Amino acid sequence: MDMEKPRNTPIDLSRSEFQKLGHALVDQIAEFFDTLPNRPLTAGKNPTQIRELIGTGPLPENGQSPQEFLGRTAEILFDNSLFNAHPLFLGYITSPAAPLGALGDFLAAAVNPNCGAWPLAPVATEIERQSIRWLADLIGYDTACGGILVSGGNMANFVGFLVGRRVKAGWDIATHGMRHPEAKTLRVYVSAETHTWVQKAADMFGLGTDAVRWVPVADDLKMDITALRARIESDIAAGDRPFLVVGTAGSVSTGVIDPLLEIAALCREFDLWFHADGAYGAFAAAAPDVTPAELREGLALADSIALDPHKWLYSPLEVGGVLVKDAEAMRQTFSYHPDYYEFDGIGGESALSFVDYGPQNSRGFRALKVWLGLKQVGRSGCERMIADDIALARRLYDLAEARSDFEARTMNLSIATFRYVPEGLDASRRGAETYLNELNAEVLTRLQAGGEAFVSNAVLDGTYLLRACVVNFRTTTVDIDRLPDIIARVGREVDGELRPEGLR
Ligand SMILES: Cc1ncc(COP(=O)(O)O)c(C=O)c1O
Repeated sequence: MDMEKPRNTPIDLSRSEFQKLGHALVDQIAEFFDTLPNRPLTAGKNPTQIRELIGTGPLPENGQSPQEFLGRTAEILFDNSLFNAHPLFLGYITSPAAPLGALGDFLAAAVNPNCGAWPLAPVATEIERQSIRWLADLIGYDTACGGILVSGGNMANFVGFLVGRRVKAGWDIATHGMRHPEAKTLRVYVSAETHTWVQKAADMFGLGTDAVRWVPVADDLKMDITALRARIESDIAAGDRPFLVVGTAGSVSTGVIDPLLEIAALCREFDLWFHADGAYGAFAAAAPDVTPAELREGLALADSIALDPHKWLYSPLEVGGVLVKDAEAMRQTFSYHPDYYEFDGIGGESALSFVDYGPQNSRGFRALKVWLGLKQVGRSGCERMIADDIALARRLYDLAEARSDFEARTMNLSIATFRYVPEGLDASRRGAETYLNELNAEVLTRLQAGGEAFVSNAVLDGTYLLRACVVNFRTTTVDIDRLPDIIARVGREVDGELRPEGLR
């Protein structure tokens, strides 16, 4: 038997093996970070090519020494990934990982505390609690709030949704679900620009997607408050129970901030839960000089807020966060105490266990990367980086506006939308709009596969737009100034191939 001390297990590494592998890996990563701006943003390979790189063989019967594959695996990743850390990655809402955050994840994995319960994660739990307080402080929210770090924006919004449902349903929904004699049809109000998480929530938590009232937006893409009021009133008249209004603080497509103050007032009037989806935009409240006052003031009034450090705090994936003003309501939503989990009364003091504040049981130490980042840059660092990202997006919008071959469309927070309109195309001709949509969609496809720059898209009133979202501490003015020329070059190439006879 091989189980005497030291036990010989295939998964363990000796101290010297660990040091050797770790140092070599850190050196490789440092080189990767350093050379990133000069690497193609993506290798643009197809799934078959990627599968060939990693090999298609069966599960190995016996293991290999990591010396033989760790360094090579890093190389494959560095040479074939799509890099959201590239200075010209401006797609979706995905930031580069702060290098210290990468080290934080490494350290967190090495200590491996189970952050479900205080006794299993004494330091880690307190670091997460402090991170929650600091996040609240950063955006001007009540620091006595409850909160938890989760995997991302969807999960954070689900938590706010569930606490709101529990508090406002009007019957004991945790016990009886939707089958209580007093149960009514629950209604959720969101703007037509709200992220799709709300459909998943309504489905997963038993309301059905029909429960979601998609309130139209006004011309400025903000929720139409008159329409919201009318919808709530007519639902109440029909015997339904409105319980939740979601105000988006930075919409996924265009960065628009809903009229949060008016939503808050309406929620007070009708006794509804006000959840703010600030997955993208909430941290912009840390830069009050360059963002609308409504953002910070409106968030302060929300019953719950989703906010994602893996978006605008540049933490490595995954980490979203949710703050709930009434910490006790949050605890009541998620706390169950079976005999096999008794975490109260550590050393005579009560201690908070995060298992009581969210859906997860065992939990990793995702707070560490957030906490280290906040310590590294402080409030002023957050403010400066966010303000710079906003200024860069504005610069891109202005460049698009100044060019005759671009049409600039929207500019909110750090998202600019625009489209390529080739010189000489009369956009008022029949078929021109359809063609412009096709053209810009193809420009996007080629850009995304090309490896020079990466943007994504938005569709507004049937118009297909290119969309750049700057949540990237590596992007510079030089990068932004290059982008319109890159897009125009691809645009001219596509136009040369696709323009129909009738529009020539
Ligand atoms: C406003 C908003 N809410 C929620 C989400 C979902 O966040 P995640 O992808 O982290 O789950 C996003 C993603 O971009 C978003 O922009």
